[in-house]
Amino acid sequence: MPLELAQALTASRIADLRARLAPLFAGTTLPVTLEVGSGHGHYLTAYAQAHPERFCIGIDLIPDRLERSARKSTRAGLSNIAWLHADVRLFLEALPDNAHLAEVFILFSDPWPKRRHWKNRVVQSEFLTALATRCAPEARLCFRTDHAPYFSYARDIAAEHPDWRLCSEFEEPWPFELVTVFQQRADSHQSFIARRRAGVPPVSAIEPPSTPASSSE
Ligand SMILES: C[S@@+](CC[C@H](N)C(=O)[O-])C[C@H]1O[C@@H](n2cnc3c(N)ncnc32)[C@H](O)[C@@H]1O
Repeated sequence: MPLELAQALTASRIADLRARLAPLFAGTTLPVTLEVGSGHGHYLTAYAQAHPERFCIGIDLIPDRLERSARKSTRAGLSNIAWLHADVRLFLEALPDNAHLAEVFILFSDPWPKRRHWKNRVVQSEFLTALATRCAPEARLCFRTDHAPYFSYARDIAAEHPDWRLCSEFEEPWPFELVTVFQQRADSHQSFIARRRAGVPPVSAIEPPSTPASSSE
């Protein structure tokens, strides 16, 4: 796909997400919990049910999984949960400036085992930088996987990142246990929790990149 067309498509996806996110954030004052790659929705539905004091958003790339998730939360009669078809990188760009995530779960994220595919893993240093600008101070990131190499990779990135502080298991126990679909298939898993450090400038304070003047100007 030509670069200009790809850029136009991304811009239109972000605009569409922005339009869908604005009313969600306008309609709540609750702290927001995000699940990235919410899959079949079991975890976040149970979490929202147990935490009526939170507003929960589950995002995923697979529409069918989101539809199943929505059916679950509707059956449970939940009003503090929403599901969105979104890539997390675009989601972060589309969040309203005044939105600050309190908590983020990334559970059994695709491990992309081959080295040449590692760039597709959700947890990257650039991702943690973008996430930090969209999180409240002391927001927590809860990561769990059954893939030992991805666990080490993600934990090392979080440990070395200036915007995040890795918590010890004793300081911060796993906040909510519920077996996800992919957890059920796994023999074992490992988890870490990181807290966003204070002092990360909110996204509204970051200068937008300068855009070249269009040819019609
Ligand atoms: C292995 S599944 C795990 C699903 C669920 N968390 C569980 O434990 O059962 C990973 C999910 O992440 C979603 N996903 C992968 N990359 C994503 C991205 N960049 N943004 C949003 N979701 C993503 C996939 O579509 C998939 O449903």
